[in-house]
Amino acid sequence: MKKGLIKIVAAAMAGLFLLCGCELRPKGTDGPYEFPLTIKADFNEKDKFWQTNGSCKVKLENGKAVITNRKESNAGIAVPCAEYRGNTVNATAMVSSENDSVRLTLTYDIYGNVSYVTVASGDTTADAESQISGNIEIPANAQNAKIYIEASDVRDITVSSFEVSIVGDFNDLTGTPVEELADPTKTASLSAAYADYFKFGVASPASVMTNKNDKFRKLLKTQFNSVTPENELKPENVLDASKCLADPAKYNESPAIHFDAAKPILDYCKKNNIPMRGHTLVWYSQTPSWFFYENYDVNGNLASRELMLKRMENYIDSVMNWCEKNYPGVIYAWDVVNEAAADDGGMRDCYWKQVVGDDYVERAFEFARKHGPSGVQLFYNDYNEYQTSKMGDILTMLRPVAAAGNIDGMGMQSHISSGLDPNNYVNAAKTYADELGVVIHITELDVTAPKSLNPMYDQGVYMKKLFSAIVEAKKAGVPIECVTIWGLTDDMSWKSSTKPLLFYGNLSPKPAYEGVMCALTGGEVAKPADYQEPSSDLTPYYEDFEDKKFHGGPRYSAVLKVVEGGYEGNYCLENSEGYAEYDGYSIDVTQFAGHTIHVSFVIKSKADVCKCTADIDGSWPNIVEVQTGSGEWVTGEGDYKIEEGTTSLSIYFESSDMSPFYIDNIKIEAVD
Ligand code: G3I
Repeated sequence: MKKGLIKIVAAAMAGLFLLCGCELRPKGTDGPYEFPLTIKADFNEKDKFWQTNGSCKVKLENGKAVITNRKESNAGIAVPCAEYRGNTVNATAMVSSENDSVRLTLTYDIYGNVSYVTVASGDTTADAESQISGNIEIPANAQNAKIYIEASDVRDITVSSFEVSIVGDFNDLTGTPVEELADPTKTASLSAAYADYFKFGVASPASVMTNKNDKFRKLLKTQFNSVTPENELKPENVLDASKCLADPAKYNESPAIHFDAAKPILDYCKKNNIPMRGHTLVWYSQTPSWFFYENYDVNGNLASRELMLKRMENYIDSVMNWCEKNYPGVIYAWDVVNEAAADDGGMRDCYWKQVVGDDYVERAFEFARKHGPSGVQLFYNDYNEYQTSKMGDILTMLRPVAAAGNIDGMGMQSHISSGLDPNNYVNAAKTYADELGVVIHITELDVTAPKSLNPMYDQGVYMKKLFSAIVEAKKAGVPIECVTIWGLTDDMSWKSSTKPLLFYGNLSPKPAYEGVMCALTGGEVAKPADYQEPSSDLTPYYEDFEDKKFHGGPRYSAVLKVVEGGYEGNYCLENSEGYAEYDGYSIDVTQFAGHTIHVSFVIKSKADVCKCTADIDGSWPNIVEVQTGSGEWVTGEGDYKIEEGTTSLSIYFESSDMSPFYIDNIKIEAVD
């Protein structure tokens, strides 16, 4: 960092220190301060750089926070970090807990709407500490930002440290007013443009309906003709905890419910004649664990299958019919079961499966068909649904449901990236429709912007390809009846850092919006004024780590370190930790688009196999696989053709188990 900039940043940080009590620590030789700037919860004192979140008890013991009596899965502690808006931050917590997993969530107020953004998650146990850590960008216009700990369940959590740090240079927006909102009525309507093909929907929090600022409602009403409540109809918001827990005998078989959270959005849709997708009745997540216990007591025994089936039937019956009675005709489709397939094959292990058994999906659809108002469509909804192996699992699970005539639609969530081939995606839609005899809703579409030179433009170009494929599929008879975007603006998305939606935070349309429109008009997405020509530099890529640096990056949670013990020279790269085998070392190869690359390297590991793979969502083509079980250096090489017009592509190295691997002498060159 340049000296002048250090002074400005240091002065800004000193101001910030006074403002929020952050820690500034001496840096050693490079300058007066250690970067990044850090807010570190002090668990020796109440409310010192942390606060209690939700309903629970927090006891401070030996510099740790012991959280008990947690009434909700997100009850615990939060680190407020409002002053960090407009910065990328790292949040790291050391946690032990009997809950299976713990997650860090960023929340903030954005023009009167509340957003929840996933920062990181990890598995936890009671007898060892786990580090949960991730980076996240806090939007520049976010107010009251804080990062909190939530868990899969309401069991106790012990936190020994929790800190939020600035990544890179500090961008001081503390005194800067938020940006003005654009006029949303000036943008041509997506739902009108797509009226001949399918409904064009959006997920929205109820805060849009209660917001003093009506511009978000105007955007919603102008653009969309189907609405999904983002959280308000999930069991944790519909089950009436205070009634059920206060009188478990009374509500034992028929849980008490209420619609306080959902009413504003139901009222709005009824008044404005906007049809709604109900999301969701039976889900492993955002369903309080007490729901699965005898007498709703998490310290007692799990309920029996018979009792749980009664609760399930009564819940489905009462929720669907309360909505129909009070808001006739508003909800036209329900996600009856959400995310029952596991990420690693088969059915997800969860309370529903444990208590009821593998047939819980079938039973849920049976009850929904039996009690659901006639004409309301019944959907199964899941993510990574376009990936071949998960699709196989979902089809296996749903065939008996379809055979019984209890399902009308497949909900393809579609949290995707521009690395997914649109043809594979629409083929998956066709397979579901053909195999199950159901209609298709794309229910939660968002598309991570590529890490390219022109991410917004490239995302727009991808959206045109994606929607062209969707429209072509529809014309060819694939029964796609609704496409729902998961959120109104990038800043309101649960993945806001990845800028995955169609509108900027200030409500103006993005190139992604333009791409969706161009799919119909055949027009081209306009290049922005700051468009950068992609490099046509075909200089071979070579790394031997002798400069003690690495030029690629970690994939997901991999930890990379240049270490001694190189293949020929002194150094090589160590890839360790991470939560999955595919958390590896990733290198951007976009500059070779249109060419065949030859990749060579040496690698050693105790894992049986190491692989080099092209990072194409949904297919991940393997470039080369080497047997590494011997623990000795092994050479790998292979070729891969990168399609012309590819705007962003990485290749990555991974091992077949969680063992670390060491890699050296990586060479990537165009060979045609
Ligand atoms: O409701 C509580 C509130 O009372 C409390 O004050 C606040 C702070 O603790 O937390 C609120 O709960 C948050 C909830 O959103 C709002 O109802 C949760 O902590 C937060 O984790 C939750 O995030 C939602 C996430 O589902 C939970 O899994 C996101 O907004 C929502 O976009 C996301 O949506 C899911 C779909 O339902 C299913 N498919 C995946 C998709 C993305 O995860």
